Amino acid sequence: MANTILVGAQWGDEGKGKIIDVLTEQADVVVRYAGGNNAGHTVFLGPKKYVLHLVPSGILRKNKLCVIGNGVVVDPIGLVEEIEGLKKIGVKVSAKNFVLSETAHVVFPYHRELDAQREVLKGKNKIGTTKRGIGPAYGDKAARVGLRVNDLVDPIRLEEKLSVRIKENNIVLKSLGAKPLSFKKVFAEYNQAGQYLKPFVANTVVLLHNAMREQADILFEGAQGTFLDIDHGTYPFVTSSNTTAGGACTGSGVPPHRMDRVVGVMKAYTTRVGEGPLPTENAEISDLLHGMGREFGATTGRARRCGWFDSVATRHATMVNGIDDLAITNLDGLDTVETIKVCVAYRHGKKQYDFVPNDAQVLAECEPVYVEFEGWRTPTDKARKFADLPPKARAYLKAIAELTNAKLFIASIGPAREQTIFV
Ligand code: IMP
Repeated sequence: MANTILVGAQWGDEGKGKIIDVLTEQADVVVRYAGGNNAGHTVFLGPKKYVLHLVPSGILRKNKLCVIGNGVVVDPIGLVEEIEGLKKIGVKVSAKNFVLSETAHVVFPYHRELDAQREVLKGKNKIGTTKRGIGPAYGDKAARVGLRVNDLVDPIRLEEKLSVRIKENNIVLKSLGAKPLSFKKVFAEYNQAGQYLKPFVANTVVLLHNAMREQADILFEGAQGTFLDIDHGTYPFVTSSNTTAGGACTGSGVPPHRMDRVVGVMKAYTTRVGEGPLPTENAEISDLLHGMGREFGATTGRARRCGWFDSVATRHATMVNGIDDLAITNLDGLDTVETIKVCVAYRHGKKQYDFVPNDAQVLAECEPVYVEFEGWRTPTDKARKFADLPPKARAYLKAIAELTNAKLFIASIGPAREQTIFV
């Protein structure tokens, strides 16, 4: 398979979990490189549904090494729960198939509390975060006051560093009217989680380079999506990591020239959860999809905002990530639509954009320019080959791939592994 980076080409929730699971069959190592437990990757194996937040979904297959890279922020309590949850349902997790970077940063309760308090302070301008403490944890990393996994697993260092951080954060929390944290309680909980996680901790950079020397194929599992990237997304309505392909290098220590291919995952329409601009947002398609019981967040359960396919955004995603191949998911979500719209440009006053403007305010004011496609109005979920799809669905897939400027590689027509068509 060669070294492959998989990224979301929209605003997250593109169905990456399923595509990663399908591609993992051909990989030896799966690496998560950014984000934290704000992500929710849903994988269906037969009737069983797994939602993974931190552990790479490669864990559901035998003999795959799963790595949490240095670019991830790890909530240790959440991670222990996730490992225990997987074990309970018979998934093997051991130091042989799961490794955690010693330099990944740790999310503490003060990060979560600050995340929540900042949202309250922002009022109507809130980001709509997952409240998992992601922004404050990456903030501490950049400010060089964060604790890393190697601090977490060393009780003496943890005690020393955590006490300073709790002192400082309690001053801030009190000034915001929030309850201060008890160092004793947090230390006890996090020390216990640190000792649980210790056997999994390693220098993942060296480990990945050793694996490459042995010709291992690595799949880099992106979280969130291109337009939630801290640099390339709709700032400030973004997450706090580099979710785009470049993040796979910095978040793992594997250099750019060792990356062979980028796969972009996008839905056949557009969704977003949380606040911020979404040019093609549309009530009709939102109601339709929610009515079908689709498009509710895997991590927070929030209803996702839905809209028509936005090729200006996905073409921009191809540019930023260098997407070679496309996996288009949720085609079946459009099975009943009579006329399907696709955004091909944005209009802002007298100006027309064929790229995504950097200013979130301008983007919010943009009017989509649409072209229309006739719907196929036939169920697609039983198709197993490209030729099984209705001609109008094939034409739609080809058109949105072409507009996105990348090659159509996979069409997904349902959550199951077998509902995956390689084109
Ligand atoms: P945070 O990552 O929790 O700080 O949230 C920042 C923004 O990213 C919010 O709009 C969230 O809804 C969004 N977000 C974070 N993680 C995901 C995800 O996995 N899927 C979709 N949106 C996400």
